[in-house]
Amino acid sequence: MLKILTIIGARPQIIKAAALSRAIRNGFAGRIMENILHTGQHYDSNMSQVFFDELGIPQPDYNLHVGSGSHGEQTAKMMAGIEKVLQTEHFDALVVYGDTNSTLAGAVAACKLHVPVVHIEAGLRSFNMTMPEEQNRIVCDHLSSLLFVPTETAMENLRQEGFMDSKAVFANGRGRQIINSGDIMYDNSLYYARIAAERTTVLNDSSLEPECFVLATIHRDNNTDNPHRLTAIFKALLKISEDCTVVLPLHPRTAKLLETNLEKGIHAQLRRSNVRIIPPVSFLEMTTLEQNARMVLTDSGGVQKEAFFFARPCVIMRPETEWKEIVEQGAGIIADADTDNIINAYNLLKNKKLNLKPVFGDGNASAIIVEKMVSFL
Ligand code: UD1
Ligand code: UDP
Repeated sequence: MLKILTIIGARPQIIKAAALSRAIRNGFAGRIMENILHTGQHYDSNMSQVFFDELGIPQPDYNLHVGSGSHGEQTAKMMAGIEKVLQTEHFDALVVYGDTNSTLAGAVAACKLHVPVVHIEAGLRSFNMTMPEEQNRIVCDHLSSLLFVPTETAMENLRQEGFMDSKAVFANGRGRQIINSGDIMYDNSLYYARIAAERTTVLNDSSLEPECFVLATIHRDNNTDNPHRLTAIFKALLKISEDCTVVLPLHPRTAKLLETNLEKGIHAQLRRSNVRIIPPVSFLEMTTLEQNARMVLTDSGGVQKEAFFFARPCVIMRPETEWKEIVEQGAGIIADADTDNIINAYNLLKNKKLNLKPVFGDGNASAIIVEKMVSFL
């Protein structure tokens, strides 16, 4: 029996963990035993507990309750907590998702204790070294024994960085394995699309008609922490809302910075506008909103992809994207935090018919991942 410790902490990791836990339950229950450690990076009920309740994820076996803090402080507390768990209980591997501080902490703590690290969503690069996520994912990729990439682009990034010719040997005496599993988020979107449509009432509750609203999310630190960029984004949302209702489930980071970082006058305009700012929604509600939105405007990695899964055009409010196949297929436009660029992208994509090729695998990433873990570890 393979015993793994899965590290989660931020909202998207909790959601991704649902797919892996489901794959273990459905076919690998006798071969993998999973324990879950929640770092506590996200802790508001609508950023954490809601996903456990809604997606049937087993409750965490450990919760470090680390909470918010500076990068160094937060990551250090996580590393210390994860280390303690790894020293008191034996695990054959530690599984991390994506590129958050929880990912970094898990990878560093485990590698130093010679516990093999499995990185899901490996190989992604923005090539923007000012992004905390870029720093985290590069370190994590290098410390990982088993890397699951979601796309061919991610595989190529690792090839370009010499991963395929690497002489790195891990504690078990073996080199790295790199596998294109497809994207684990695609598993979830396929699995929950119908369930979300049946179970949620978010459209009715908010008096939204399909195709008659735009869905927006904003949470990247370089957008929220920079008053000029945050204001530029909100000016674009205000303009777009003259044409179409904008629904904005607001990340707590952004909610906290709106008061200080929005130019004077924008708050009053927002109150009179057709921009509907709502608290973060559950995953099923988000899935329903994405399936029915005319378009998605976002700086989120996950939401960009989910827009693509549901064939919704997407305005990317970042200077670059790790998911370049979305742009290559004409489904997304990189508009950065520039008011005119965002409005122009919205107008260009508004009536565009998308004809998309699948590039994120076939929706069986989690089954591929658990199978490879059993055979490789
Ligand atoms: C983190 C990840 C980011 C990911 C995002 C997903 C890092 C460096 N960043 O960003 O890659 O895209 O999660 O959502 O790991 N807060 C609350 N309640 C919560 C959680 C956060 O109020 O439950 C507020 C706090 O003021 C906190 C701020 O949000 O300081 C930022 O939270 P943090 O987890 O540090 O970073 P995110 O911006 O959420
Ligand atoms: N999400 C959600 N409710 C929301 C906003 C996002 O359930 O109010 C989900 C979304 O569907 C996706 C994930 O959270 O699965 C993306 O997380 P986020 O944008 O916070 O982080 P990123 O993907 O950029 O790391």
